[in-house]
Amino acid sequence: MADKYAVIGNPVAHSKSPLIHAEFARQTRQDLSYIAIPASEEDFELTVERFESAGGRGMNVTLPFKHRAFRLARERSSRAEDALAVNTLAFIDGAVFGDNTDGVGLVRDLTENLAQPLRGQRILLMGAGGASFGVCGPLLDEGPDALVIANRTVDKAVALCERFRRHAHGARLSAAGYQDLVPMRFDIVVNATSASLSGEMPALPEALFAPGGLAYDMVYGKLTPFLEFAQTRGAQSSDGLGMLVEQAAESFFLWRGVRPQTRPVIDLLREPTRR
Ligand code: ATR
Repeated sequence: MADKYAVIGNPVAHSKSPLIHAEFARQTRQDLSYIAIPASEEDFELTVERFESAGGRGMNVTLPFKHRAFRLARERSSRAEDALAVNTLAFIDGAVFGDNTDGVGLVRDLTENLAQPLRGQRILLMGAGGASFGVCGPLLDEGPDALVIANRTVDKAVALCERFRRHAHGARLSAAGYQDLVPMRFDIVVNATSASLSGEMPALPEALFAPGGLAYDMVYGKLTPFLEFAQTRGAQSSDGLGMLVEQAAESFFLWRGVRPQTRPVIDLLREPTRR
């Protein structure tokens, strides 16, 4: 029988993960099934337990359960410990292992798919919530010249900086409010706020991008106000679809020991009928 995997979240019905993993499985000839399972605030842990008891081998965890998955996992990778969140569970001989593949997903999309080097670059990370926790360590590990974390509530950006200080490896790591960014120019600006989801964006200064700068929105599938802002100011731009596929590929690798090709799956998801 095929090995069973699933994504759990709320809402999860429109998740692209089942399609992504089905493509990975087809490509690498792995015999597995992958479905979407909704859970409620009341029954998240029970739903995971039931899936595991029914022979499940692993799960992806999406909003709003990444922190609860972190607590549920008895053993965790160091990148999950850094992020305080788990997006990948692997059930191995009765033990629950938790990992976080979001950060490596972003880094691979930037460096490999978008050919955007990170070493020596000036990066602005917008937001200091769960999404930023997931990517801050892996971004710093790439050796940027500077990483500024900006947030509406500046105290949260300061706390995030302190948490990831040991990843800085000589990079200039600092916290700021959006209005403090005025004299600075960035090679890469990553939007990890949830503002795009409600059609908003942080109050950014006009001149934010260095020449040839890249705007990256972790939200995918739409032209967000932030990407529009960037485009009208001459920056390159990308949504987060590649990150979604790359974090899935890393989960797939963790579960199956095989690395799928991501480019054909990203191209497939970009086809107009799939959006
Ligand atoms: P997530 O886990 O998805 O990151 P979160 O922890 O609620 O969600 O964090 C949401 C982030 O988006 C925060 O950084 C939030 O800023 P505050 O900490 O100041 O609230 C940011 N955010 C949400 N809506 C925003 C908006 N309209 N403008 C600017 N920042 C916004």
